[in-house]
Amino acid sequence: MNQDQIKARILQLAEENNALLMAHNYQRDEIQEIAHITGDSLALSIEAARTDKEVIIFCGVHFMAESAALLAPEKTVLLPRHDAGCPMADMVTAEGLREMKQQYPNATVVTYVNSSAAVKAESDICCTSSNAVNVVRSLDTDEVLLVPDRNLGHYIASQVDKTCHIWEGFCPTHERLSVAQVELMRDAHPDAIFMAHPECPPEILKLADHICSTSGMYEYAAQSSAKTFIVGTEMGILYRLRTENPDKTFILPSDGLICPNMKLTSLEDLLECLETMSPRVTVDPLTAEKARLTLDRMLAVPRD
Ligand code: 13P
Ligand code: SF4
Repeated sequence: MNQDQIKARILQLAEENNALLMAHNYQRDEIQEIAHITGDSLALSIEAARTDKEVIIFCGVHFMAESAALLAPEKTVLLPRHDAGCPMADMVTAEGLREMKQQYPNATVVTYVNSSAAVKAESDICCTSSNAVNVVRSLDTDEVLLVPDRNLGHYIASQVDKTCHIWEGFCPTHERLSVAQVELMRDAHPDAIFMAHPECPPEILKLADHICSTSGMYEYAAQSSAKTFIVGTEMGILYRLRTENPDKTFILPSDGLICPNMKLTSLEDLLECLETMSPRVTVDPLTAEKARLTLDRMLAVPRD
């Protein structure tokens, strides 16, 4: 089968199996092209919770499929590549978090969705990169523990008037971006807007004109009168930025902005997943009950 035939077969099988094809904004272009829905972590969680499809095929990484399984327990959630993980999510364990909670017994635990269900189950509320500041501001507490991303943690701390204790995790992809690379690009394109994801280190965020989640970048680029954008996040974002804004130019400041886990899923993997209805992602009921609460609390925070 050639690529077009594989795509047609995927869509046919999705229809026959009442399956929703979801893809994160960092997925390969061809996966985003055929997905029914693309989005950031928050948008995909919301859609997982409300879809009436029986099967959710999550083209992304493990914690995302796990969140979908938590929010849609009656549905079958499949992750085409079972080995698509997130190194940042692996930087915190439930046991490690329990120890940190003992150090700060009065702090409310705010956990980035880039974490396992077991870690969520030890938390009070979740956040994503698009609602993190809002979630922390909404809390009736002056002390928070922000887990696991130190960069998102420092960004939140700069935006709220609360005592923030920050876990030392990070995204290896965003961490690779250097100040020198951004400055070089800014010098070459003095009129460009620099948009950066809050997973970037603080010294990069200091240089940014706009800090937002992946979907926030689509909204910002569409409404901005600027013509050139330097994009501080994973390269998968370029597919929709360029498709939706053909008159604008989008440049990556580094060729290291690639998440190997997000790039694992191929059309062939997606086809095999639909043919075999596997691999399935499930969460044990005890963990799921506690972890779901943290996502439900996040989704209940009004959006600004
Ligand atoms: P968002 O899509 O929420 O911006 O998250 C980025 C990310 O790193 C997901 O792994
Ligand atoms: Fe994890 Fe970073 Fe990859 Fe997102 S981009 S899945 S945070 S490693």
